[in-house]
Amino acid sequence: MPDWQQIFGNDRPLALEIGSGMGDFVARMAQLRPELNFIAIDYYNKGCLKTCKRIDTQELENVRVVRDEARSFLVRCIPPASLSAIFINCPDPWPKLRHRKRRLVNREFILFLSQFMLPGADIHFATDFEDYGQDVARLMPEVTGFENVLQPDLYRHELEGYPLSKYMLKFLAEGKKIHFIHYRKCVRFHGHTARASESLENALHLTSSSAMNESAQYNSK
Ligand SMILES: C[S@@+](CC[C@H](N)C(=O)[O-])C[C@H]1O[C@@H](n2cnc3c(N)ncnc32)[C@H](O)[C@@H]1O
Repeated sequence: MPDWQQIFGNDRPLALEIGSGMGDFVARMAQLRPELNFIAIDYYNKGCLKTCKRIDTQELENVRVVRDEARSFLVRCIPPASLSAIFINCPDPWPKLRHRKRRLVNREFILFLSQFMLPGADIHFATDFEDYGQDVARLMPEVTGFENVLQPDLYRHELEGYPLSKYMLKFLAEGKKIHFIHYRKCVRFHGHTARASESLENALHLTSSSAMNESAQYNSK
């Protein structure tokens, strides 16, 4: 396991953005939340480079960029119950019905992520894709151990103080709506005890190289 305190040079709480793309969101969030250390992860090389340049230009001390697949990275590099916040913005929507099983966020993935979250940690999900937003909004209340920060709303189309990512801006400009979802891991929750490596098998329909290639093509548009 990497020593994150040594890497950041301090012991501030850790936050993770999964699929950080070009890094505009993490750079803005890192400015807004200097009390957190941000790990931005993406397997898209060009996006990681762009993110590195952005954080260098903005002289942000509290961001590190990792080029890796998110699920295997979490198991190898993030200790259980160590993250204070997770952000997932506009994950690949896999719009074709036959590709839906490739979507990153589902019930198993949330349970998998839960192991890496501290009690009280936040999880944010945002998508421009109507049926992805509806799916996640429907599944989250069923996942034990989380409370809905936005209740009574299951999702909102605007979230004050939440920076807009490159994809959000692009889709808003096309007249689409963003679904913002925000849950918090319950402080008193002790239910899920499966080891990270066990639940990785559930969460990970191991991202095949063809899926990664298709994702890269989608993201270069
Ligand atoms: C549609 S883009 C959105 C980028 C950015 N979050 C935004 O909103 O502008 C999705 C990003 O997630 C990355 N991604 C998808 N699955 C991933 C995974 N399993 N691990 C790491 N990155 C992933 C892709 O490479 C891509 O950069």
